[in-house]
Amino acid sequence: MEEKKTGAVRRIGVLTSGGDAPGMNAAIRSVVRSALQRGIECVGIRRGWAGLISGDITPLASADVSRIINRGGTILYTARSDQFRTEEGMLQAVATCKLLGLDGVVAIGGDGTFRGANALASYGVSVVGIPGTIDNDIVCTDYTIGFDTAANTAVECIDRLRDTMQSHERCAVVEVMGRRAGYLALAVGLAVGATAVLVPERPYSFESHVAEKIRRARLSGKTNFIIVVAEGAASAVTVGEEIREHLGLDPRVTILGHIQRGGSPTVKDRVMATRMGYEAVRLLAEGKTNRVVCAEGESIVDRDIVEALSMEKTLNPEEFQVMTVMTGA
Ligand code: F6P
Repeated sequence: MEEKKTGAVRRIGVLTSGGDAPGMNAAIRSVVRSALQRGIECVGIRRGWAGLISGDITPLASADVSRIINRGGTILYTARSDQFRTEEGMLQAVATCKLLGLDGVVAIGGDGTFRGANALASYGVSVVGIPGTIDNDIVCTDYTIGFDTAANTAVECIDRLRDTMQSHERCAVVEVMGRRAGYLALAVGLAVGATAVLVPERPYSFESHVAEKIRRARLSGKTNFIIVVAEGAASAVTVGEEIREHLGLDPRVTILGHIQRGGSPTVKDRVMATRMGYEAVRLLAEGKTNRVVCAEGESIVDRDIVEALSMEKTLNPEEFQVMTVMTGA
């Protein structure tokens, strides 16, 4: 690989923090290879911000990121660090950056990761964030790495549930992840043709958002039902109990849980991760700091972290409208 020397940036670190997401490895690979292309050395910081505090690092040469583009999880491990939120932890992280001669850090994760990046930037460390979470709940970007894979995994699981629900003429209540957001539930609900989709962005009403929809579906001749529940909207167990009590059905409840976080990333996640990794390195190499790499439609752009964290993200109104029509309004 041809090496080109770049100004003052000689060595950068890359870390993954928060919940892992399929495609994080593809992003790490892209950061390493894009950096090497510019003559910048790259080290991996293990276990997220905690690793930056303790100096838990590993060298990352081109060969170290071979054959990881297709792997789920993160080769750098990930963690949520309480210590990093303290002044002492932050000073220690800054000291590690100096000790290791890091001219910049690429942090891959969710909004908690970006808050950490912003705090670190205020101590003079150059940081760039890459959005990686299956929740797609980061305000500044239309897309977060891992969402497509997680949605496809959930759809595959629910398609299987559908087979047995159809055979027994039953109702399945399926809880999907998403933290406090309904993006995953909405996409999955649309893709499986759910009878009802519950999202936290809309206050939960059993009568109008579940019971009424099941009654209408029954009237139209349906004998099996799929209810998709975002974990932030309601508990699938409670929804199942309400269905049993008020509709006389015998539902089966499935909480998909962490199964949604694993698996080989889809084409979309590999491509987005690779594009975002490239962009993060470009920003650091050009001396930019405290930026987040974002997807805006089909384009990759960058935003100031503070501005990015203060933006508001709502469910796609058109997608939401389609869902209400598909589930009988
Ligand atoms: O943010 C990703 C996510 O998978 C959420 O959807 C979920 O609420 C949370 O992480 C689960 O966190 P943990 O892995 O700590 O149980």
